[in-house]
Amino acid sequence: MSGWTTEKGGGTVPFRNPGFAGNTGEFELTEDQVRGLDYVGARPPEGGHPGGVPTYPYMLVEKEPKAPLFDGAHLERYEKIRSRFPDAQGALLPVLNLAQELRGHISPATMREVAGLLGLSEAYVRGVATFYTMYNKRAVGRFLIQVCTNISCNLCGGDEVLAAFLDELGIELGATTDDGMFTVTEVECLAACGTPTAVQINARYFENVTPKSVSQILERLRAEVE
Ligand code: FES
Repeated sequence: MSGWTTEKGGGTVPFRNPGFAGNTGEFELTEDQVRGLDYVGARPPEGGHPGGVPTYPYMLVEKEPKAPLFDGAHLERYEKIRSRFPDAQGALLPVLNLAQELRGHISPATMREVAGLLGLSEAYVRGVATFYTMYNKRAVGRFLIQVCTNISCNLCGGDEVLAAFLDELGIELGATTDDGMFTVTEVECLAACGTPTAVQINARYFENVTPKSVSQILERLRAEVE
């Protein structure tokens, strides 16, 4: 138990991780980890969209691609998730989320391990993991920048915003900067069509982004890790 508590019903109760379904409980997470910028439900200190992305998998700042699946507090969380679903298929998404939190991405080897853990076929796990774009299939940087270039954003300059990120960082689409800080990808609709161009950076939304605001956003992200 983290020792982090909150007031509720006239008493003090352990804080519950506000993450995705099946992943609540008393875990060894610090307030910084839960509220930190890489975590679901994060509220940026200023700017950006305050909503965060409630179902986006966590990614720890320090990823360990070879971290065991699972041990310690993570094993406890895995067991809790598993116990909440009547079958293994139901538990697959939160278990993949947990694996991505630890390892930063879901490689074919991770898919195989998850399949073994849950008693599912590797093909089934691979089909699910590759269907959802929120599972990174390869290692990504500290900040994963996902630019929407779908219809609404496209009409309002999504392609130019994407080009501005790539130019500013001097990388190709899908690549990561040499310092491991930024990965830039292009995504389909982020459901923020009313405020194009929408850009999701880790669990945060930036809306009404224009090519001009790109350097400002990057500057701000760099400042956050200094
Ligand atoms: S088209 Fe970009 S958020 Fe919907």
